[in-house]
Amino acid sequence: MSLSQTDPQIAELISLEQKRQAGTLELIASENHVSTAVMEAAGTVLTNKYAEGYPGARYYGGCAYYDRIENLAIDRAKQLFGCGFANVQPHSGANANLAAFMAMMKPGDPFLGINLSSGGHLTHGMKLNASAIFYKPAFYELDPQTETIDFKSVLAKAKEHKPRVIVCGYSAYPRTIDFAKFREIADEVGALLMADVAHIAGLIVGGAHPSPFPHAHVVTTTTHKTLRGPRGGLILTNDEQLAKDINRSVFPGSQGGPLMHIIAAKAVAFGEDLKPEFKQYAQQIVKNAKALAAALQAKGYRLQSGGTDNHLMLVDLRARNADFTGADAEKALEAAGIICNKNAILNDPRPPKVTSGVRLGTPALTTRGLKEADMSTVAAFIDRALLAKDDAGSLEKIRQEVADFAGKFPMPH
Ligand SMILES: Cc1ncc(COP(=O)(O)O)c(C=O)c1O
Repeated sequence: MSLSQTDPQIAELISLEQKRQAGTLELIASENHVSTAVMEAAGTVLTNKYAEGYPGARYYGGCAYYDRIENLAIDRAKQLFGCGFANVQPHSGANANLAAFMAMMKPGDPFLGINLSSGGHLTHGMKLNASAIFYKPAFYELDPQTETIDFKSVLAKAKEHKPRVIVCGYSAYPRTIDFAKFREIADEVGALLMADVAHIAGLIVGGAHPSPFPHAHVVTTTTHKTLRGPRGGLILTNDEQLAKDINRSVFPGSQGGPLMHIIAAKAVAFGEDLKPEFKQYAQQIVKNAKALAAALQAKGYRLQSGGTDNHLMLVDLRARNADFTGADAEKALEAAGIICNKNAILNDPRPPKVTSGVRLGTPALTTRGLKEADMSTVAAFIDRALLAKDDAGSLEKIRQEVADFAGKFPMPH
């Protein structure tokens, strides 16, 4: 029986969400639209079985096909990133980061990252996160002038705190990451370098951002952002000892049975990412981000660090109107069919639930086929919606126009 027959309530909600995605412009930098092949693999009988352990060494019988699927996912991940080891089992990016920390540190060990408010992730030492509860975070800073990584601060903090691990890679950073420079500093203080490339992984494998290898000792990523796979995590390394420690810290260290339907979907996504078209996609994400950035700047918005090198930008709304807040903007834009998230600007005087900025990213729009010229249309919708933020009638009118515009760009199949 189909889902609509057995559970019409859930079927109806899924169908409404499908329409919402098709009828809006998705600018959340960490989201994407996966292919039907990825979704098909994720929705299979592979959800039925336990496969604790690793290929060839499972704790349950009947895993022959699971071994072959996981090995394919591993081989494709290694090929994509040009590295010697991959663990494809982490259920999420947060799980990948926790397992990577467990492989590299003992409880109480110090590590160096960047604060959530400067673009880091919760798992890089936010006080309520396991990374800060079980390990000891210290933070490097952005240069207040350039609003880019301040390597003097990285070196000074590294010398002061003697971290076991230095973390680079971010959730809200629009510029290229100099992995070689981070490695130099890690070597100088005897630390391991971890690159959390969750946001830029697709750009890396598509040749639109430098690779963290051979500089990083350990690389973690999510699989659902620019890699355009199912929700999940991935850990990579070239170091044989770290590889063993990572396998142990994923299972049994921090997870039980792997989500084999999701691992199959990861394998499908990695297969797509290996195709030449994916390189074009990755380059187009960056071209679109640059075009959107320029169009917003032309309308009077300020971008943190002055622009973007990757898939995202941090828009300081105050330059357009001192009263605009990130929270108001997120709400007004949603009412106009443009989906994004509020985001703190460096040294933002407003609290995290309000903020003075929004984070915008182009991976999902690029998947739908939008090109540079379409970005000025998107910027014009954004600006009109923000200027009309208190006028429900105008926002509704823009929402209709956005839906018509979005309708020209089909969801992937
Ligand atoms: C840099 C970075 N690392 C890790 C994660 C965590 O991923 P997940 O939400 O899958 O746990 C994110 C998610 O946004 C991220 O941006």
